[in-house]
Amino acid sequence: MRIVLIGPPGAGKGTQALMLRQALEVPHISTGDLLREAVREGTALGKAAKDYMDKGELVPDQLVTAMVEERLQRHDCRAGFILDGFPRNIPQAEDLSAHLAKEGKRLDGVVSIVVPRVELVERLSGRRVCSQCGAMYHVRFDPPRQAGVCNRCQGTLYQRSDDNAETVNARLAVYEGATAPLLAYYTSKGLLHAVDGSGTPELVFTRIREVLNSLQASPRS
Ligand code: AP5
Repeated sequence: MRIVLIGPPGAGKGTQALMLRQALEVPHISTGDLLREAVREGTALGKAAKDYMDKGELVPDQLVTAMVEERLQRHDCRAGFILDGFPRNIPQAEDLSAHLAKEGKRLDGVVSIVVPRVELVERLSGRRVCSQCGAMYHVRFDPPRQAGVCNRCQGTLYQRSDDNAETVNARLAVYEGATAPLLAYYTSKGLLHAVDGSGTPELVFTRIREVLNSLQASPRS
């Protein structure tokens, strides 16, 4: 299946994509993760992206689109993919659609994860990530057994540099301005499925699975 997950920062896109990756056996492609990796490695892309990410702004479309298209061409995407964090505006959506069309493919569905703003801020302020394996925790909703230490690999947990209050507000504003218009865009294409993102990650996963099951039962003609 070729799926896009859309949602504001903290909606749980990454959390759900990790669970869906196992269930669907397709790769999880997170543009945020790819960009953070490029920043860590100090590549040209990472150097160009860093300032935008630190301010909570979108990295220029041509950089992100080229990165995604390169990733989608890899062998493991032949059976499908879960895109998390891309597209993030209408030009990116149109580039994605054109790229897939060139290969005779198209999206099966777009899942919008809906969470009240107050909950988003709480999720982001408490998020902790393992510096070694990338596992995600929340100080209140999903705390590690030992504070600051990953349950899986004993790596050190850190707080993402863009999870501070000022940058979170900027990211939420960018979502409202640039990304939310995609909801109407994908509705007009008959692709959008809104899912309630409140409740435990397992409950949200069950809701998303129901949507995907219905898509698998009646694929687009
Ligand atoms: P990116 O990394 O994509 O950040 P984001 O979209 O802001 O999303 P997050 O990763 O913050 O949240 P999420 O929805 O994945 O939630 P998560 O599952 O982690 O992008 C970062 C930056 O990169 C952007 O600001 C931009 O600069 C750049 N960028 C990326 N893509 C781009 C693009 N296409 N174009 C241009 N620029 C781009 O969960 C959050 C927390 O909540 C965790 O602690 C988790 O444990 C907890 N949680 C999850 N689900 C639940 C639940 N159901 N109940 C309670 N807690 C939960």
